[in-house]
Amino acid sequence: MKPALLLTCLAAAASQAYDIDMSPPDLDFVFSNPSVSTDSDFRIPTSYESAVMGRRILALSKLGHLSTVFPPSSSSSLDSEDQETQDWRRPPGLDGVPIGMMDYVADCEADGLGNPTVLAFAIATSFQNARAGSNISLSMRWTPPHPPAKRMSTESSSSLSFFDHLRGLLGFSPSTDADGNDDGDDHDTVPYSAANLPRLSILGYVETFQPDSDEESALASCFVNRHPDARYWLPGNRIHRCEWARIVVQAIYFVGGFGDRAYIGWIPVDQWQKVTREEWEAIRLPGEKEGWNEWSVDGAWAPSDL
Ligand SMILES: *[C@@H]1O[C@H](CO)[C@@H](O)[C@H](O)[C@H]1NC(C)=O
Repeated sequence: MKPALLLTCLAAAASQAYDIDMSPPDLDFVFSNPSVSTDSDFRIPTSYESAVMGRRILALSKLGHLSTVFPPSSSSSLDSEDQETQDWRRPPGLDGVPIGMMDYVADCEADGLGNPTVLAFAIATSFQNARAGSNISLSMRWTPPHPPAKRMSTESSSSLSFFDHLRGLLGFSPSTDADGNDDGDDHDTVPYSAANLPRLSILGYVETFQPDSDEESALASCFVNRHPDARYWLPGNRIHRCEWARIVVQAIYFVGGFGDRAYIGWIPVDQWQKVTREEWEAIRLPGEKEGWNEWSVDGAWAPSDL
């Protein structure tokens, strides 16, 4: 084959790869689903399929963000210890202002209803606000353990040079980043399109509870299995007062990714509760295995038996 012809074939293959496997989102439907069916190649998962994904995110993820609102500063439901730990030091003017904080989350309850398990520390702002009457939301996102093997460039494909296409085709990343700088040791801290990955917000309220001793040992082993360091501050530790708690799920808002291929909307609570362990164990989220292609149609939803 003549070199010129070989290069033409490579260029054609490269652009086909960008067109098909790495198709960018339909800009009309990045943030919402089409209201009527389009001629898109994508099948948008149902709310139930999205509930299964959400339950897998809850089961596999370790961290979430708890959002609560500060009570009125004069709130009498705060006991004296809380007055010392929070209200005293709180700057003025924060009544009703939301605060989101990272916390450890696990899916440890035997009833399988998908009420997230948390440790409610007396000293923690999220739980002080909850005890003073705040509702709570838990935001979780899917973080793929492996970066995708192929990414869509941050540039539009038409502005990619032929050699960028060729490098992409041969599996090399572009030699320079978007600013034209050598990447050097600057590792991309989000080496995937987070906008096209599932995330959800679970809305409800905090309920603390005292498990009996059998339940407590099951909870403790589940929680420590997910969070080995938490063994040092489980309920009953001598330093920090805390209780077992669940976030009682009252609503779930789910954004599966780009709206032309992922479900964006509310998941009915009964669907969330109905999902079984077998169901969420049967699926794989994008990037659970190495070598995934973040823009491929079948990457986000594997099973055919649902
Ligand atoms: C918590 O949410 C419920 C609705 O589920 C609402 O009636 C109540 O007022 C909320 N509590 C606060 C403190 O905002």
